[in-house]
Amino acid sequence: MTDGLGRLDELPRVRLAPDPTPLEPLPNIEREIAGSGRSGPRLYVKRDDTHPLAFGGNKVRQLEFYFGEAREAGADTVLITGAVQSNFCRLCAAFAARLGLECHIQMEDRVPKDDPLYRSSGNVLVARLLGATMHTYPHGEDEAGADAQLEEIAAGLRAKGRTPYVIHLAPGHPPLGALGYVVAARELAGQLDAMDIRPSAFVVPSGSGATHAGFLFGLRALGIDTPVLGVCVRRAADLQQPRILTRCGDIAELLGVASPVTAADVQITDEFLAPGYGLLNAPTREAILMGASREALMLDPVYSGKAMAAFLDRARKGTADETLIFLHTGGTPAIFAYGNVLGEGFGW
Ligand SMILES: Cc1ncc(COP(=O)(O)O)c(C=O)c1O
Repeated sequence: MTDGLGRLDELPRVRLAPDPTPLEPLPNIEREIAGSGRSGPRLYVKRDDTHPLAFGGNKVRQLEFYFGEAREAGADTVLITGAVQSNFCRLCAAFAARLGLECHIQMEDRVPKDDPLYRSSGNVLVARLLGATMHTYPHGEDEAGADAQLEEIAAGLRAKGRTPYVIHLAPGHPPLGALGYVVAARELAGQLDAMDIRPSAFVVPSGSGATHAGFLFGLRALGIDTPVLGVCVRRAADLQQPRILTRCGDIAELLGVASPVTAADVQITDEFLAPGYGLLNAPTREAILMGASREALMLDPVYSGKAMAAFLDRARKGTADETLIFLHTGGTPAIFAYGNVLGEGFGW
C-alpha cells in the first residue's frame, strides 16, 4: 500500500493518538435527505474529530510530522501562529504539554469580532489550560508578517538559551502537515476496502490546504481516482485552486516522488465561504444543527460546519447509486466561543 508514497514512512513522526479513526454511516441524515418515496446517496463520515487528544481534529495528524522534526532538532520550545480560535494552535499546545515542551501561540486578528467570548473561550481557554504562552499579532491577512514576528519571538528565546522550533504559516516551507493527510488517505482507503464501500466522492474542508492537498495526493498516489471536493473556508476558489496544486507539488518533493495530482483533480467550491473566514452563514448554521440533532456530530462554525453545508448540498443533489464520504476535521471547542452567534441565529 505504499506505492507512490516514497519516503512517507521514513520521515520523523510523533504519534500520540491511535489510528484508525472510525468510519461511520450517517443513517438519520441519509433518511432525511432521501425523503419519502425517493432514495438518495449512502452517506458516511470519517471521524477525525475523535482523536483522543484535547478535543482532537485534523491538526493532530499534521502535528505528528512537525513534532517529529522538532524532536529530531532537539527543540525544547515550539512556536505557532493562527487565528484567535485556531485549532492548530490549541493542538500544538496539547502536543507540547504531552511531550514536556514549552509552547508559544501567536493569535492573529483574522476575524472581525469583538465578542469577549470569542477572545476568551473555546480554543483560547483550552490552550491556556494546556500551559501555552499567548502573544498577539494585529493583522489577519499577512502570513509572511505573522511568520516574521514569530521568528522574532524565537530569536528572543534563543538568546535566552532555549532551542525553539517554528511552525510557519506562509507557503514556501515544506508542507510537513500535509503528510498527515497522505497517511489519512491510506488509512481510509484500507477501511473502505475492508467494509466493501465504493465511494463516489469525498468532501473535505480546504483552509491552509494541508488537509485537502495531502488527502488528494494520497488517494491519487494509491491509484484511487475518486473525486475530492475541497470546500473553501478561508479564501476564494480561484486563489485556493493553484495553492492546492502547488502544495501537491511540494508534497511530491518531500516524498521524493512525482506528483500524481493534475489541475483537473483539484475540485473546489467557495459557495459556503461568505461572508468570510470565521463568519457564520445560514447553510452552515443549518448544517451544524442537522449534524448535532440528527447524528450527535459536533461541527464548528469555521471549518467542519461549512464543509458539512457543502456535503449536505452535494448529498441533496446526489443519486441513489452514489456513496459520499464526509471528512470530519473537528474544531469542537470553537462552538463555545461562537455560542452567542450560533444561539442568536436559532433564536435562543
Ligand atoms: C477543524 C478544522 N478543520 C479544517 C481545517 C482546515 O484544514 P487545513 O488548514 O489543513 O486546510 C482546520 C484548519 O485549521 C481546522 O482547524
